[in-house]
Amino acid sequence: MPKVSFEMESVTVEIPEGQTIWHAAKQAGIVLQRGFAAASPCNGKGFCSGMACAVFLRAPDPAAAVSPPTWKERVLHRKLLKNRKRLACQCAPKRDLTVVTMP
Ligand code: FES
Repeated sequence: MPKVSFEMESVTVEIPEGQTIWHAAKQAGIVLQRGFAAASPCNGKGFCSGMACAVFLRAPDPAAAVSPPTWKERVLHRKLLKNRKRLACQCAPKRDLTVVTMP
């Protein structure tokens, strides 16, 4: 079970394989959505607008530490990917990693 550490909140939680960083944040009581997305969150479906549930990953090889980008990230949230951020609800950790929630 990978451990997800939230750097800004100083919280670490363990989640079952296959669950996403969004699940880890929910388990830790952390709200990820900001801006418009906070008013009407999609509850982990990848359809929030604006900043959605963007996070920055801290790991030696971030691409290898989580699942690859989903079509929702590649099509609907290209700008986030370009800025090396991921949607928390679309990436599942494969190993322990640290997440920055306010990049
Ligand atoms: S929770 Fe809506 S995009 Fe992630």
